[in-house]
Amino acid sequence: MNTQQLIDTAKELVAGDKGLLAMDESNPTCNKRFAKLGIPQTEETRRAYRELIVTTPGLAESISGAILYDETIRQKKRDGTPFAKALIEASIIPGIKVDTGAKQMAGHPGEKITEGLDGLRDRLKEYSLMGARFAKWRAVIAVGDGLPSRSALEANAHALARYAALCQEAGLVPVVEPEVLMAGEHSLERSVKVTGEALRNVFIQLNCQRVLLEGMILKPNMALPGLTCPAQETVNDAADATVKCLLRTVPAAVPGVAFLSGGQSAELASARLNAMNIRFKSHLPWALAFSFARAIQQPALELWKGEEANVSAAQQSLVHRARCNLAARRGEYTDAMERN
Ligand code: G3H
Repeated sequence: MNTQQLIDTAKELVAGDKGLLAMDESNPTCNKRFAKLGIPQTEETRRAYRELIVTTPGLAESISGAILYDETIRQKKRDGTPFAKALIEASIIPGIKVDTGAKQMAGHPGEKITEGLDGLRDRLKEYSLMGARFAKWRAVIAVGDGLPSRSALEANAHALARYAALCQEAGLVPVVEPEVLMAGEHSLERSVKVTGEALRNVFIQLNCQRVLLEGMILKPNMALPGLTCPAQETVNDAADATVKCLLRTVPAAVPGVAFLSGGQSAELASARLNAMNIRFKSHLPWALAFSFARAIQQPALELWKGEEANVSAAQQSLVHRARCNLAARRGEYTDAMERN
C-alpha cells in the first residue's frame, strides 16, 4: 500500500474548496429517474447523459472528482474516448462505485445490508487499471420504530471497513458512505442520535480493519429531520446539529467529510452546507465538502429530457450547481446566486 499516494489523493479530492460529483447511479436507479421524465431507458441514453456530464465545460473549476458506475466506466464518448480518460483530461479524478447494492438483511425486516465484497480485490485492480483513483461504497440505515437495529449498524459498518481496507490495499481512496435515510417522521434529534451511532460503529470497524484514516473520505448524511416530520428546523439549526454530531464521532485524522444530498432540494443542500462552513469552518479539523448526485444533477436532467438540443442548457445548469456548492464550501453561497 502506498500510504503517501492515498493521503495525497484524499487531500486532492477536497482541495481548493471543490467537491465530488456522484454520477454513479446504478442502471435501475438511472432508469427510474429517466422514466419520470419520459427519457428512454437504454444503454445509449444513459451513455449520452453521462457524456453530457463529463464534457461539461468548466466543471473542473468546482468538481475535483466524479464517481462512475460499472457500466459508465466502460463507456466512451461518441469520439471513442473512455469516460475515465475524458475526466482525467478535464482535470477531474475518476472514481468508481464498487458496492453491488443494498439488499434485504436476513432476519431484519425493513433493514438492508450492502453487498459486493466477494471478488472486490480483483474488481478494484481492474478499475484502477481503467484510471479510477478512488472508490465508493454506500450503506443505508433506515430510521423507524425500533430501527436501526444494533446488528444492522454493526454489519453495515463491518462491510464498509472491509471495503475500505481492500481499497487502500489497491491504492484507491475509499469514500465511506453510511447513509441514514431521510425517509420517515423522525425528528432532528433522532437523526443526530442515529447518525452518531452509525458513525461510531463505522470508525470502530475502520480501526479494527486498520484503515488509514488520513487516506479516506467520509461521505455521511447531514443530520436532518425525516421528510415527513412536522417540525422542519431552520438551515442554521440543521447545520449546528450536523456539525455537533460529526465533532463527537469523526476523528481529526480524516481529511474530508463530503456530504451526500439524500433527497434534499439542490438549493437546500447548498444552503445547509454553506451554513456549516460559515459557522464552523475555521475551527474544524476536516474539510466540509460535498459529494452530491441529485443536488447537482437533478435540475440538469430535467432540462436535458433526453434531447440533444438541450445539452448546452443542461451543462450550464450542472456548472451552476457545482459553483453554488463551491461557494457553500467557502461560506459564500447566497440566494442571489440562484437568481442570476
Ligand atoms: O449513493 C448516493 C450518492 O452517492 C449520493 O446521492 O446526493 O442524491 O443522495 P445523493
